[in-house]
Amino acid sequence: MSTKGIALGLILFFSFASLSFGALQVGFYKGKCGFRDVESIVAGVVADAVENDGTLVAALLRLQFHDCFVSGCDASLLLDGSDTEKLAPPNLSVRGYDLIDDVKIFVESVCPGVVSCADIIAMATRDAVHLAGGARYRVETGRRDGFKPAKNVDLPGPSISVPDSIEAFSRRNLTATDMVYLLGGHTVGVSQCLFFKDRLYNYKNTGRPDPTIDRWFLNDLRDQCPEDSNVDNVVFLDQTSMSSFVVDKSFHKQIWQRRGILEIDQQLALHPLTKDLVTRVAFGFDFASKFGDAMIKMGRFGVLTGSDGEIRRTCEAVNSAW
Ligand code: HEM
Ligand SMILES: *[C@@H]1O[C@H](CO)[C@@H](O)[C@H](O)[C@H]1NC(C)=O
Ligand SMILES: *[C@@H]1O[C@H](CO)[C@@H](O)[C@H](O)[C@H]1NC(C)=O
Repeated sequence: MSTKGIALGLILFFSFASLSFGALQVGFYKGKCGFRDVESIVAGVVADAVENDGTLVAALLRLQFHDCFVSGCDASLLLDGSDTEKLAPPNLSVRGYDLIDDVKIFVESVCPGVVSCADIIAMATRDAVHLAGGARYRVETGRRDGFKPAKNVDLPGPSISVPDSIEAFSRRNLTATDMVYLLGGHTVGVSQCLFFKDRLYNYKNTGRPDPTIDRWFLNDLRDQCPEDSNVDNVVFLDQTSMSSFVVDKSFHKQIWQRRGILEIDQQLALHPLTKDLVTRVAFGFDFASKFGDAMIKMGRFGVLTGSDGEIRRTCEAVNSAW
């Protein structure tokens, strides 16, 4: 290649890189809020809230997953008018929304108009993961908030196949490896029985349970989710005793032992495309750092860093309403 060609290539490379990676960076808010440190303000509010209610860790993780997957990490999920009912039938995530609002109100009171709701989701989730025993990964910030509520929410369902799930993650710039770590988010939190009851009683209309479920575990789950009950119980996605609120690799150990709750969870440990990695995660020692890396990567998807976004003053409404 000629010198000119190399120079042109470099120019193209750098302008492309700056376009595609925008301004996300670790510590974006340093020095942007007077003498106050934005990240420690967020951490303080989250710590108080999580101390009172440990289920908030799961609520935040799920909230960030949904925000990033639906239309990129732009807090569009928080806007009034978003199609959120589908996301959380029994309002499981609603407490997460309240916490984001609390953080926003606090941050607005010390430096108004500076910190985006999208970044608050990312920072608060990182802090919650850390409080629950996960890594305090180096969260990137610099996102701006989107202008449009999330519509036509296209999220994977609990019985999605491994190949389809890999495809859904790849459409968000995430690899199968990222996916295996990110589904480790199911190391905390709960699912309603309705999302996996078919596996316990009538798998794929066979009249029989899903043969991949450990048989003792099956009895256990049937107790937690009776067939004819008209109440919809919730069960921990990670059934390791004492670990249902801890961000660790025990979810991967559970699915390796055929004790997964959702069909996709269990299939991760069985499908040729993912099972070797699941085994490595379950018996390895790098879950914490790799989960953090994958969260950082998920947090890059579809971010707005220029005039295509704004710093919302209140997370439920775009600023024109102000
Ligand atoms: C193929 C991908 C995924 C599917 C199909 C899926 C599906 C589900 C389902 C059906 C529930 C139960 C919801 C309910 O009962 O209302 C759930 C809960 C949850 N999901 Fe996922 N999920 C996926 C990926 C993820 C990812 C990537 C994360 C985070 C990194 C995550 C974090 C959570 C958490 C923390 C909960 C518990 C929420 C709570 O207790 O409030 N999920 N998921
Ligand atoms: C909770 O969920 C129910 C049923 O989906 C819905 O009717 C209600 O509006 C939700 N409440 C909140 C506070 O979102
Ligand atoms: C996906 O990754 C490519 C290559 O890094 C990048 O150019 C693109 O902007 C990313 N897409 C989104 C929506 O983040």
